[in-house]
Amino acid sequence: MRKSYQIAVIPGDGTGPEVVAEGIKALTAVSRASDIDLKFKTFDIGGDRYLREGVLLADNEIRRLKGMDAIFLGAIGHPDVSPGILEREILLKLRFELDLYINLRPVTLFKSADTPLKNKGAEDIDFVVVRENSEGMYAGGGGFFKKGTPDEIAIQESVNTRKGVERCVRYAYEYCRKRNGKKRLTLCGKTNVLIYESDLWRRVFYEVQKGYPDIAVDYQHVDALCMWMIKNPEQFDVIVTGNLFGDIITDIGAIIQGGLGIAAGGNINPEGNAMFEPMGGSAPKYTGLGQINPLAAICAAQMMLEYLGEKEAAKRLLTAVKQVVNEKIVGLDAGKMGCTTREVGDLVVGCLT
Ligand code: IPM
Ligand code: MN
Repeated sequence: MRKSYQIAVIPGDGTGPEVVAEGIKALTAVSRASDIDLKFKTFDIGGDRYLREGVLLADNEIRRLKGMDAIFLGAIGHPDVSPGILEREILLKLRFELDLYINLRPVTLFKSADTPLKNKGAEDIDFVVVRENSEGMYAGGGGFFKKGTPDEIAIQESVNTRKGVERCVRYAYEYCRKRNGKKRLTLCGKTNVLIYESDLWRRVFYEVQKGYPDIAVDYQHVDALCMWMIKNPEQFDVIVTGNLFGDIITDIGAIIQGGLGIAAGGNINPEGNAMFEPMGGSAPKYTGLGQINPLAAICAAQMMLEYLGEKEAAKRLLTAVKQVVNEKIVGLDAGKMGCTTREVGDLVVGCLT
């Protein structure tokens, strides 16, 4: 039977709408070829609407988003809104309210020429970061004491629950088992300094490992792991880590896989909702120029198909993206593709089999 999905679309700010349009174009084409039915419902959420109407994220929007099969997000971020407001009240709020506790970030280089790493190629850079997405430093705990005085104290707390750590670690083991047969899982932490949170992570990591004797594990301190990601990225298969370390190392991941023109991620609750997005942000200075690379958004759409269980459609789209990167465009960065945003979308559609 023909499967049908309701997809919430949040084009958002800046170049978000441009790249989302190409993502939808690719999804529509691949859904025809794979005989699935995607129904898109657009949500006007973002900095523009906030400046216009003063609304960030309404309760009824959260309710409606929860009822959708998946969310496709362009970008949230506006130069006229103070930093932090849109991030906390829209992006992070969606993660928390929908309990999207996994941030999944594939780091795959398609074409050797696109990485800034010397002597590393597509065969060396192919791993996934599983970042905890609902706790840690992002929980927002802490406060000021004597703010604005010379005696001021700022405390920023990291929240790590046994339940929260365990569900993330379990997801990473399961993901690693299914991924590609390398079956190697690395825990990234800072046990030499963060004696409470990293200790909990380490204990949970090795306890859960008992159920996964087929998976080889190791542990690396986050600072050392940053160096290894540059020097020997080929050693990694799946990396699991907390929220803040995950945020930081996935930006290294983005640059070694070819930059923000190609980097995509998923915010996932494996038992519930999920939201997929290009990692590049709203890139306001490129708005309307047709220079931004939509492949990151198309890769996000591809991850969404995987999540929906549409493996064949996902594979088709991935094959087309790889072909475009390898044969059709000259670079991945904005303004460096050798063609426009729309043309890149058309090339992907043209490469679909
Ligand atoms: C990301 C982003 C967000 C984060 C920002 C925009 C709040 O950098 O998704 O990686 O820090 O998680
Ligand atoms: Mn980030």
